[in-house]
Amino acid sequence: MNYSTDKNFAVQQDANDPLKNYRDKFYIPVNKDKKKQIYFCGNSLGLQPKTVRSYVEQELKDWELMGIEGVTEARNPWLPYHEFLTKQTAHLVGAKESEVVNMNTLSVNLHLMMVSFYRPTKERNKIFIEGTAFPSDQYAVKSQLRFHGYDENSLLEIFPKQGDTYIKTEDILEVIEREGDKIALIMFAGVNYYTGQLFDLKKITEAGHKKGCLVGFDLAHAAGNIDMQLHDWNVDFAVWCNYKYVNGGPGAIAGCFVHERHHANKNIPRFEGWWGNDKHTRFLMKPDFVPIPTVESWQLSNPPILQLASLKASLDIFEEAGIKNLREKSKKLTGYLEFLLKENKLTEKLEILTPLDSEQRGCQLSLRFFGNGKEVFKKLIASDVICDWREPDVIRIAPTPLYNKFEEVWEFVEIVKGVIE
Ligand SMILES: Cc1ncc(COP(=O)(O)O)c(C=O)c1O
Repeated sequence: MNYSTDKNFAVQQDANDPLKNYRDKFYIPVNKDKKKQIYFCGNSLGLQPKTVRSYVEQELKDWELMGIEGVTEARNPWLPYHEFLTKQTAHLVGAKESEVVNMNTLSVNLHLMMVSFYRPTKERNKIFIEGTAFPSDQYAVKSQLRFHGYDENSLLEIFPKQGDTYIKTEDILEVIEREGDKIALIMFAGVNYYTGQLFDLKKITEAGHKKGCLVGFDLAHAAGNIDMQLHDWNVDFAVWCNYKYVNGGPGAIAGCFVHERHHANKNIPRFEGWWGNDKHTRFLMKPDFVPIPTVESWQLSNPPILQLASLKASLDIFEEAGIKNLREKSKKLTGYLEFLLKENKLTEKLEILTPLDSEQRGCQLSLRFFGNGKEVFKKLIASDVICDWREPDVIRIAPTPLYNKFEEVWEFVEIVKGVIE
């Protein structure tokens, strides 16, 4: 795409943007003078869709009027309520409907998945993970190792090579080829939270399977950001939170994918609860568990309806906008940010840690400022740019295609210029 530094270019892009009306479907935070802020923090907490309130109020109303009768008689009956989100969730991550469910929260789902898919043996007991994974994933993985009687010798980590800011795909594949026979589980992020690197999920999965490993992903920074084909890529499992790009609300109920080839496998251990039991016999209150023949068999508890309602409001927007269209705009929007940083010679004052290839990143650019980055960050916040700081030294900037504009990217770069001077 041919970008220009002229502000009119940004204005034109916004005017011609087929997704431009989606911004109006969100509440954009304002400063104390009621001026809209530049919100580039959808990678941390997505904004509130204006429809959330009515979705949640519908359930509050039915609870008010019906009490327990709402389980079956509410306008959107609570018993099957989670099913009203299945189609949209499947489309969001490229899965079959039988392969996705929203339940619990991310770290909980990651543990539940490892109960099923980390099955170490004497010869094959390693977990392969990016060394820069989000801390909760590292804690989860290490505690699973200990739970099975292994120690950190069974943890295989990969870091960016000296002088690189992110991990090269060929290096990941090389480790799998070399160590694969000892790896029980490959557990990577979809998009790394710190660098914004998008891993090649398809190639990692293929390489892992060739060596007999199981392969799962934490898609916290990929869901709602990247278009994926989890089913076709044969990914074994995936988990993600819905409060970042998916805009489900603070602490939103999380997502989970299990490939259909595992659904009927009786040899997979699983922690069981009544909500995973066959729907026809669940209320017969029998003592023996009969699994639902889908990913839903991993559900433990009846889900929080108000949480599901909030998430449904957002998923309905994604369903309408289409993740492929959003990704197309996202590449242009983040590409424009990269272009402006370079054209304005800001790359002499900062380093972009994120891959410059748009196929290897999502919305986010991770910027490491030379000098006092924390000071730059504080000044950005004071200038009504909402972004975030990640220790030790990175400012994460994530223009999201649902509610950000090209003009905001242009303004942001002007603000950075001012702040640095
Ligand atoms: C990549 C990644 N994994 C895991 C988590 C933990 O999520 P939760 O607190 O929802 O379990 C986060 C939270 O931001 C994250 O970014």
